[in-house]
Amino acid sequence: MNEAKKARVFSGIQPSGDIHIGNYLGAIKKWVDLIEEHDSIFCIVDDHAITVEYEAKKLPERTFEAAAAVMACGLDPSSDNCTLFVQSHVSAHTELTWLFNTITPLGSLFRMTQFKEKSRNALAKILAKESGEARSTVLHELKNTGLQTAEAIEALRPRIEALVPEADEVDEGLLAALNDGLGSVMQGLQVGLGVSGASTGLFDYPVLQAADILLYRASLVPVGEDQEQHLELCREIAGRFNKKFKKRIFPLAQRVPGEAPRIMGLDGKQKMSKSLNNHIGVLDPPKLVEKKIMRAFTDPQRVRREDPGRPEVCNIHRLHRFFSSPAQADELDEGCRQAAIGCGDCKKILAGNVNAALGPIRERADYLKAHPGDVIDALDQGAARCRTLAAQTMDEVHEAMGIGSKALHRFCK
Ligand code: TRP
Repeated sequence: MNEAKKARVFSGIQPSGDIHIGNYLGAIKKWVDLIEEHDSIFCIVDDHAITVEYEAKKLPERTFEAAAAVMACGLDPSSDNCTLFVQSHVSAHTELTWLFNTITPLGSLFRMTQFKEKSRNALAKILAKESGEARSTVLHELKNTGLQTAEAIEALRPRIEALVPEADEVDEGLLAALNDGLGSVMQGLQVGLGVSGASTGLFDYPVLQAADILLYRASLVPVGEDQEQHLELCREIAGRFNKKFKKRIFPLAQRVPGEAPRIMGLDGKQKMSKSLNNHIGVLDPPKLVEKKIMRAFTDPQRVRREDPGRPEVCNIHRLHRFFSSPAQADELDEGCRQAAIGCGDCKKILAGNVNAALGPIRERADYLKAHPGDVIDALDQGAARCRTLAAQTMDEVHEAMGIGSKALHRFCK
């Protein structure tokens, strides 16, 4: 195919083991569909995985399993258009991250909700070790001081903005006063984030993600809705780089939504996620899938078998829309409203259909686990191709930024 003309697709997935049907319907299935029409690169993002607590000894296994799982889901690296590799095997990802760091405002990173969430979770974990009483006092005070600080800064914003002088008439006294104010705010942040133990790597996570995408100048990124903010940052970095160094090196990448923007967990309350343990793994054995579905949450108002149900609020029904034929889903919808079918039977049918859909995936996964060399070969070839592509981009980036040996040699000629 004509590589130069087709938009390139890039996406990444964390090596967290256990890929679930939310990941599958939210992104992976879309990846697989896109391969036919596009040059597609997929990455197991181990450099991202190490930004939170993890066990180094277990990471290679997690990485292997993630690669085998996406291959089992239908991603075929032996096809011309499809490259699969492990992020840490191509060192340019971390190199480009550093260069992007120099043009990324701290403010843009502090806005990232995923960072805020993850550092809050880390803090909550630490506090969970305290006794109930001590914990609630700390939490209470933390919230109060946090809110007061945020309000105070917000109230000051227009006045600060009015004070900030034009760049060429800097008033030393004003600058010193602003510095003092900022100093206190930063100290507050430092204490808060310091206690949470969040790493610099976690803070920088979105910049690494931008480097992943832009290293290959990909313009299409199939990922879940929760990644939209990271993609906005990626566009911000691309735009700023192009403008600052007066060269259009990077495209503004767009998110490609998956089939299902948001698959709810079996608790019917939160998004499906491995950490909430409300998920169906694509490699769960059939019995486990059935057990999980039989226990899942349905329409809370349908208490007895004779009560008519409301499929529109039932998570099991939503899953039928993805795993059962439209005719069967319509029929179950009707049966549920008339109380002609009970939740137990409706769930059994779903479990059967989910297992039928996952069957071929499980089979391929079993095959790959028995033939690990196939996975390793694909990853090695993938990394080799990516290193070549990445080197071309890095050359242009170095040249634009005035760093690297080529620029120096040219200067000395
Ligand atoms: N942050 C993404 C996630 O958690 C994973 C990821 C890392 C990614 N780098 C990427 C996704 C580049 C798309 C493109 O799902």
